Amino acid sequence: MKIILLGAPGAGKGTQSANISEKYNIPAIATGDILRAAIKNGTELGKAAKSYIDAGKLVPDDVVIGIIKEYLGSDACKNGFILDGFPRSIPQAEALDAMGVKIDVVLSIEVADEKIIERMSGRRVCPCGASYHVLYKAPAKEGVCDKCGQALYVRADDAAETVKSRLETFHAQTEPLKAFYAKKGNLVTVQGQEEVADTTRLVFEALRPYEA
Ligand code: AP5
Repeated sequence: MKIILLGAPGAGKGTQSANISEKYNIPAIATGDILRAAIKNGTELGKAAKSYIDAGKLVPDDVVIGIIKEYLGSDACKNGFILDGFPRSIPQAEALDAMGVKIDVVLSIEVADEKIIERMSGRRVCPCGASYHVLYKAPAKEGVCDKCGQALYVRADDAAETVKSRLETFHAQTEPLKAFYAKKGNLVTVQGQEEVADTTRLVFEALRPYEA
């Protein structure tokens, strides 16, 4: 299955992408994670991306398109993949089309802006990639990752002002992708629920018709 996950920042794309990846045994490619790792490692890519991420703006299209080309060309993606956070603009979606990639389903997770702000303020992440929420997905021991035992931290771009800017960017540049994919006929929407498990159930139901 070749899946695109759409949704506002904090809609639960990363959370659901982990569940889908496990169920269907396909890799998740999260451009945000790739860019953050590049920043942490001080690479040229990281240096180019940092100021945009800190401001809650999109990293230039040519930079992320280059990343995606590299990942989709790898063997790991030959039986399917989940794109989490790509495409995020019409030019990125057009670039994906130009690569000849045929997407089976575009799943949009819908969550209201007010809810997003509440979720982001409670998110805690781990250097290993695991993500938690102080109320909705709390680790067994406060501040400690269940998977690897490292200390959890707040993502730099989860500061309230940056979240506001990320939401504005989403509405202006990413939300038009819903109409883009609706026109192609492969857009499916799921309402994000209060409980993670309830959203997961709806996501799996929505994907069932696309199973091979
Ligand atoms: P990225 O890392 O992709 O951030 P995002 O899209 O803003 O999404 P998030 O990772 O913040 O949230 P999510 O939807 O994955 O939600 P999560 O599952 O964590 O991108 C960061 C930046 O990189 C961008 O701003 C941009 O600058 C740049 N970038 C990335 N891709 C790019 C591209 N293609 N082009 C250009 N620039 C790009 O959930 C959030 C919280 O809510 C968690 O705490 C979770 O536990 C909790 N939660 C999840 N589901 C539920 C639920 N149902 N109920 C209650 N709580 C829930």
